[in-house]
Amino acid sequence: MQSEAVRYQRTGNVGLLLIDNPPVNVLGAAVRRGLALGLEMALADDAVRGIVIACAGRTFSAGADISEFNAPMSEPTLQSVFAAIEAAPKPVVAAMHGTALGGGLELALACHYRVAVPDAKLGLPEITLGVIPGAGGTQRLPRVIGAIAALDMIISGAPVDARTAQQFGLVDAVIDGDLVQGAQQYCAKLVEQGATPRATRGRAVDVTGFDSAGIAAVLGKHSRALKGRTTQQLVVDAVTAAVQSDFDAGLAIERKLADRSLTTTESKALRHLFFAERQVSRVPGLSVESQKDPIARVAIIGAGTMGSGIATACADAGVAVTLIDSSAAGLERGLGLIAANFESSVARGRLTPDQAAERRSRIVDSADIEAVAGADVVIEAVFEDLALKQQVLSKVASLTPASTLLAFNTSTLSIAELAASCRDPQRVVGLHFFSPAHIMRLLEIVRTRATEPAALAKALAVAKLLRKIGVVAGDAFGFIGNKMMLDGYWREAELLMLEGASPEQVDAAVEAFGFAMGPARVNDLGGTDVGTRTRIELFKREQRPDPYFVIADALTAMNRLGQKTSAGFYRYEPGNRKALPDEEVAALIERLARERGIQRRSIEAPEIVERCLLQLINVGAQVLESGVALRAADIDVVWIHGYGFPRHLGGPMFHADTLGLGRVLERIEHYRCRLGDDYWRPAALLEQLARQDRSFAQWDSERTRA
Ligand code: COA
Ligand code: NAD
Repeated sequence: MQSEAVRYQRTGNVGLLLIDNPPVNVLGAAVRRGLALGLEMALADDAVRGIVIACAGRTFSAGADISEFNAPMSEPTLQSVFAAIEAAPKPVVAAMHGTALGGGLELALACHYRVAVPDAKLGLPEITLGVIPGAGGTQRLPRVIGAIAALDMIISGAPVDARTAQQFGLVDAVIDGDLVQGAQQYCAKLVEQGATPRATRGRAVDVTGFDSAGIAAVLGKHSRALKGRTTQQLVVDAVTAAVQSDFDAGLAIERKLADRSLTTTESKALRHLFFAERQVSRVPGLSVESQKDPIARVAIIGAGTMGSGIATACADAGVAVTLIDSSAAGLERGLGLIAANFESSVARGRLTPDQAAERRSRIVDSADIEAVAGADVVIEAVFEDLALKQQVLSKVASLTPASTLLAFNTSTLSIAELAASCRDPQRVVGLHFFSPAHIMRLLEIVRTRATEPAALAKALAVAKLLRKIGVVAGDAFGFIGNKMMLDGYWREAELLMLEGASPEQVDAAVEAFGFAMGPARVNDLGGTDVGTRTRIELFKREQRPDPYFVIADALTAMNRLGQKTSAGFYRYEPGNRKALPDEEVAALIERLARERGIQRRSIEAPEIVERCLLQLINVGAQVLESGVALRAADIDVVWIHGYGFPRHLGGPMFHADTLGLGRVLERIEHYRCRLGDDYWRPAALLEQLARQDRSFAQWDSERTRA
């Protein structure tokens, strides 16, 4: 009897097991059963002398089913299936295309030979999910490529291409043309030459360089990506077992370490994000199909910092761009910025000069707004000025058909107010890009009550096309991310400074927690004036009571604009970006506190971190209850990709669940008693969930099911 997930067939003397489990051939229970069954059939078939394992569809297997990680794997397990393949008395060849990842590569390692198409990518990315390969990867890879190279590959989590893999013996042959046919021919030749099964478990591990210095060098190479992480130590232990123990004992150690890795908060957080990042594009009422509208040309109006970054991102994605600026100087500056972006990609080795030139040639420029005609999407990125943007929009609306998406790039203005000036507000959205727009992956997609589903779907398609993570947000003060930053985290950081913590103490505390950079340093990097201008615009929407960013605004007024003026929250020596504490700032903060009657005291790091996080979570809950964010997981994605929240903690809302919402509420109540109601009133949703002993994750899944 044939399995549906794995088809068996024979061509000549070669049996083929073809895994067919769309979209990415994960090794779920049906595939595991199918592989075991197919192997039995191939071994029982006397006409079969060799076996090829390949995958149908767009890719070789993407590994174990991550959604099954929370429960023990049902029989047959990957370990038992792989052991059976490895023990097969007939040679087994893995034929890889697309991405052979995790359990997918472990499957290939259990085969006796491996072939791949040139653009196949092979890797063990488990560390990016906070787990270690648990189906023999840490034991078999060292036997194929050597212990230190295996350690490096597993700790980096990054895939290698087929030709590189061939160089260090992970791939035996690179196949041009039809992969399955090529693999069958390769296998038939092996049989003809009398090749026997070459079990990986029987191979010796090359231990050259695998000593404490070699291990430390690998860990050091990846230390930035692994800041605050723990999984790497489990990888070291597992690869050490491959070096020191026999194969079966090594496998048993790997199993234990892999099981342990699955229970860590780090792993739960990273798996949460894996699914959250893919779930963001699922919007109730919008089919995935509707997000596949072709986008051939994007017109961008305004060739400034943002416009040029967006143009670079579009050209990188293969889209034709029309870049329009009413000022000749503006256009020239924008084209210069674009040229610099591509030059930097070439300098970093990401693009060849030819590729850069080809991408650059996708951008045509114009001084005439009429050049928007023919674009599928128009993105405006002119100055942050409501009247100017409205004027640009009405003109663009009159020049384009109703199917063209009209997008505003703004961080402060009301999209509804902007759209109201146009004859068809239903095709208007906000696209809040983050700077630099060609690098930052986050894109907040702001919809208004008038935005029609087709327009939202097209905006999501733009995000996908630009390989960005598009998160849908409601049209409110600060959308999702800036609202939580301004009303929650950063405001609290400023209040802590007024109460006695220095900017450097606040930065050090949140950076030790895991934020990429503390608020004072971020302000100095981006410019205190940028924040001040943003708040002035936002205040036109909604006012905030004093104290609200009084330090940052005072710094702006003093022309202490950050790194660009060598002075902001910190001072800077010429030509050096190192932030140095400044007496003048300390005196300023003391004065601002005195004027407000704030008693200053010394504040320890735990209080700094706790208060910043509680505010972030509480305002996040407000964003959620108001419907500005669809899901708590969306908020996590925004904070990971736009604001430097530590990825291994899963995002603020996941972190709140980890702490327990009851505990979060209790601590908010604690500060409410101490510091008053103004900033410490718990969000109704948080209160409700905490009292019901529920989590944000449960709230999300109940709404997804509803
Ligand atoms: N387990 C469970 N589901 C998986 C999966 C896995 N190992 N790999 C991919 N998927 C799912 C995704 O969640 C997505 O589901 P959705 O459409 O319901 O959102 C779908 O497969 C397609 O994946 P997506 O990432 O959107 O496709 P892509 O073409 O952009 O990327 C991969 C394909 C394989 C590169 C990418 O999915 C990936 O890196 N997967 C994880 C690989 C991994 O870490 N494996 C180790 C586990 S042992
Ligand atoms: P910028 O000042 O660098 O560039 C604006 C460009 O628009 C200039 O080149 C100008 O000549 C051009 N322009 C002005 N009026 C025009 C018109 N009528 N027609 C065509 N071109 C016109 O501005 P920026 O920093 O790129 O910001 C653009 C928008 O993006 C603003 O709304 C801003 O709030 C928003 N935004 C900026 C950032 C950021 O970090 N810079 C982040 C998110 C959103």
